[in-house]
Amino acid sequence: MQKKYSKNEILLKNKYYYNLKSINYSMKKFGILFLKIISVVLLLLLIVGLGGWTYFKSNLLNFEKDYDEKITFNTLVSNGESILDRNSNGRVDVYEDHRRSLDERVEDVFSQMSVEEKLHLLKGSGMSSAIGMNESGEGIAGAVGTIVPTPRLGLPTIYLSDGPAGLRIEPTREGDSLTYYCTAFPIASLLSSTWNTTLVERVGNAMGQEALEYGIDVILGPGANIMRHPFNGRNFEYFSEDPLLSGKMGAAMVKGIQSNGVGTSVKHFVANTQETNRNWNDARISERALREIYLKGFEIIVKDAAPWTLMSSYNRINGLHVAQDGRLLTDILRGEWGFEGLVMSDWFGGINPVDMVNAGNDLLEPGTNWQWKALREGYANGKLNKEAVDTSVKRILRLILGSKKMQSYEFSNQPDLEKHAQLTRQAATEGMVLLKNDDQTLPIKDDENLALLGVASYAFIAGGTGSGDVNEAYSISLEQGMEYANAEQNLQLEKGLGYPNIRQNIRAKELFDTHKIENSEAFIQPQGFEAMINPFNPPQRSYSTEELEEIAADASMAVITIGRNSGEGSDRVVKDDFELTAIERDLIEKATAAFHARNKKVVVVLNVGGVIETNSWKHLPDAILLAWQGGQEGGNSVVDLLLGKQTPSGRLPMTFPLDVAHHGSHKNFPIEGIEIDLSAMLLKTETPEEEYQSTIDFTNYDEGIFVGYRHFDNDKIEVSYPFGYGLSYTRFSYSEPDIRIENDTIKAIMDIKNIGEFTGKEVMQVYASKLNSIIDRAPQELVTFAKTKELAIGEQTSLSFAIPLSNLYYWDESKSDWNFEQGSYDLKFGSSSRDVKAIMRISLEPQTRP
Ligand code: BGC
Repeated sequence: MQKKYSKNEILLKNKYYYNLKSINYSMKKFGILFLKIISVVLLLLLIVGLGGWTYFKSNLLNFEKDYDEKITFNTLVSNGESILDRNSNGRVDVYEDHRRSLDERVEDVFSQMSVEEKLHLLKGSGMSSAIGMNESGEGIAGAVGTIVPTPRLGLPTIYLSDGPAGLRIEPTREGDSLTYYCTAFPIASLLSSTWNTTLVERVGNAMGQEALEYGIDVILGPGANIMRHPFNGRNFEYFSEDPLLSGKMGAAMVKGIQSNGVGTSVKHFVANTQETNRNWNDARISERALREIYLKGFEIIVKDAAPWTLMSSYNRINGLHVAQDGRLLTDILRGEWGFEGLVMSDWFGGINPVDMVNAGNDLLEPGTNWQWKALREGYANGKLNKEAVDTSVKRILRLILGSKKMQSYEFSNQPDLEKHAQLTRQAATEGMVLLKNDDQTLPIKDDENLALLGVASYAFIAGGTGSGDVNEAYSISLEQGMEYANAEQNLQLEKGLGYPNIRQNIRAKELFDTHKIENSEAFIQPQGFEAMINPFNPPQRSYSTEELEEIAADASMAVITIGRNSGEGSDRVVKDDFELTAIERDLIEKATAAFHARNKKVVVVLNVGGVIETNSWKHLPDAILLAWQGGQEGGNSVVDLLLGKQTPSGRLPMTFPLDVAHHGSHKNFPIEGIEIDLSAMLLKTETPEEEYQSTIDFTNYDEGIFVGYRHFDNDKIEVSYPFGYGLSYTRFSYSEPDIRIENDTIKAIMDIKNIGEFTGKEVMQVYASKLNSIIDRAPQELVTFAKTKELAIGEQTSLSFAIPLSNLYYWDESKSDWNFEQGSYDLKFGSSSRDVKAIMRISLEPQTRP
């Protein structure tokens, strides 16, 4: 039955109904409005997004327009030689003719270029290939930069790619079943620890071969910055705290790479010693420190090895961005040192493209449309110096015409990766440094059941991150190295030869495996571009005393690996990085207690990219092997040393301090580990001077020339391991050096004999000390070094040394020139900077400089 309503009720109901209706209506209206707003916002976002993307794409990724590389040419014949008609004019031009000199060819092609083509050549083609965004079949995926082609004249694209530990390109390509892996060679700090320039040159040669066979024309490396402070996140890419060692190693690397007809870009010129605020940091350095420490290594490389290119650094020096500093890039580099190659910017480095080219920064990488526009405007309004443009263009043309691309070299995409794997293993073995070896714990003499502790034992770190990373096909851990050694061992034993058998302790392995399963995600090693920005850093496992007691009861020896990974983008920090983490310290303490209680030994392997704190725990284990980041064969190399297949002969290229604060640079180094601000690379805004913060906006290099051992020696500071230090399994005897001075060179010969029980190599370092110096000098400075060949037990060899007198010069600020102090010098022949085997006093008369 229907309810009857009174009038009032009806009114109320209607009101309610209308209210409801109106609420409903308002809600609907609101909903529609809301939807409209959302749609507009989405549309706006889409437009902004699309616009942004288009803007981004057309300015940073791909903006080359009509400059597609010309790839098909007619062939002309001249006196029986086939020559490509690059500009399709039907005759052989001088620049097309490989029989003409490079100078003639450069002048000829230059004379045929329009202004637009010249300006076009001064910047790269953008970022697309660097981030793997190549169109299928186009370019070389992962190549980080190019020198652009000039289609009208048939000039090819030149490909540039990282980096210091091997080539970095994308290992796989869409729709392509081939792979493009490269060899991960040891990091530069390990290579310099070999003190073996011949070996480093061979490594360079192999890197160059890979570049050549993958179609890359210039490798962006080696790095030659000085390790001013251990916390620079990129130290692993560099050779040393000493400019002579850095320069000699860099020169060897450049010679090796370039022997393939592939260029190098020695970086980062200059004083790029911190990552913190790297695009704006102003390195405030005295002229003397700049010349003697920071420029010196580059000077040696330029003079000894003539690199094709140098890369200017991001930072400023004394107020000016290096990429815009004509005094550094033109007066010193070209005027004083005679550098004939080109200078390219670091990626998006420099602020003002016009000022950069005017200063002698010939090539802007990776190139943006903004830069291109700015150059055209600068040319039109006269701010861009026409002579500078011509000079830079000719330098770039020289590189293009001298490249293998210009010879139409047909790269195979199949470098000999197997051969290079052998070489990287050998190089890594030679650069690992034995820091401690009590009671001849190493090499392992009897069959052992080894407990592998520390996650890095199972997941070795091959190299650092950022642009110094390499996309290798595999990386051998210590665990795998042991397995391979056992397989080899079984073969050897059949032949009646062999080394002890080392088996891995099952209990230690089980505990690790469970840990790995529990953290499976974190154990997936990032690949390709991701590996560059996301360091592989699986969590450590903490062990209880009982677990370690159980392992120690079962195993006969422990190997604990401590791993560290750093790279481009931030500097290192004290906590959990320079210092051991609480878990690592606890592990070393508990493991040594458990193993020593049973009269068993403990070895610590340091799988690190830079200096770490050692003083507080080094008394605990019996042996410490600094394995560095040894590239893709690192685990095999460590096992070669543990078993005594090779005798360690690495020596430290930097000091391991007792306390990082003891470094002369520590007061003026950013120790907070601030992450890099990537936007600063593109949005070039400067902090107002009144807001400057020390070590961020500027860094005072107050320590002057007293960097590394120069400082520790000068202030007589005890260190944990000195510069040049490293133990061997064998022992050597040394003759008194025979010294003579010939023209501008001090020559010395020293006999070295292997008087120990293992074959091995010795490194001899020569330091010079000026007696009664009237200037503020380091107590001693490395002036040369040499390494013996492998000496059999009882074998003797003589090492020859040549020290140009210029290696004794100092920068005289009063004269703004190099100067020489006459008088007596002690030449100290040492197997480290603090282990001198012979001192020879020489007296040097006033010299005219060569
Ligand atoms: C690095 C360079 C590198 C370049 C290209 C920059 O961020 O500083 O060392 O060569 O990127 O990857």
